[in-house]
Amino acid sequence: MRQLIAGNWKMNGLLAEAEALAEDVAAGAEGLSCDLLVCPPATVICTVADVVAGAPFAPVAIGGQDCHAAASGAHTGDLSAAMLRDAGATWVILGHSERRTDHAETDSVVHAKVLAAVAAGLTPIVCVGETEAERLDGRQEAVVGAQLAGSLPVDFAGVVAYEPVWAIGTGRTPTEADVAAMHAFIRAALLRHLGEAGRLVLILYGGSVKPSNAAALLALPEVGGALVGGASLVAADFLAIARAAQAA
Ligand code: PGA
Repeated sequence: MRQLIAGNWKMNGLLAEAEALAEDVAAGAEGLSCDLLVCPPATVICTVADVVAGAPFAPVAIGGQDCHAAASGAHTGDLSAAMLRDAGATWVILGHSERRTDHAETDSVVHAKVLAAVAAGLTPIVCVGETEAERLDGRQEAVVGAQLAGSLPVDFAGVVAYEPVWAIGTGRTPTEADVAAMHAFIRAALLRHLGEAGRLVLILYGGSVKPSNAAALLALPEVGGALVGGASLVAADFLAIARAAQAA
């Protein structure tokens, strides 16, 4: 399976910036052997979709960063999965730790959003990961196992991203052994939860991935790609990470 390098732009990017970043990513994406995905703020998905559609080839997929669990209705400020699809997205990140923290999203909320995303034709990337206190207590596998069991439907066919909360935006990463151990644990949990279909789920690593550590992280067993925050805002860095995937 090809590795997936996904950029999570978070709450960054006015129209002109998003357009320029998408152009630079699309222009540098030729010849990569991984799949590329960018997840811009919803306000610029249409713009990014136009840029990607106008590129000489279509190397970059587009995703949202969240969606509501309902298909429509009285949910002021929210976006449905179908709206993201309509704007040009084919993927959506769900259950990111910033959503879990800032918006008190529980596993059952994430589960409902996964169902809504799939119903609208989006491929979900479900994020899991422990806090620093949980890791110091040795509870990281219990925490991630519970998040997977609570968030993934029994017929889940999306992508999982392991993002230790303490590694996001901090410049710190787990050791390679810790990443490999957690990815092996997640694979075993997916096989238990989904049966043989669990073998097909890509498991991304996320949390302070940058050009200098990408090759080592992406070469680890069961690491199917990366979910990249800060470094995805600089096209050259994002593309350098993508080239590391190619080499892995
Ligand atoms: P980071 O963010 O790469 O800036 O650590 C990763 C993420 O939150 O997906």
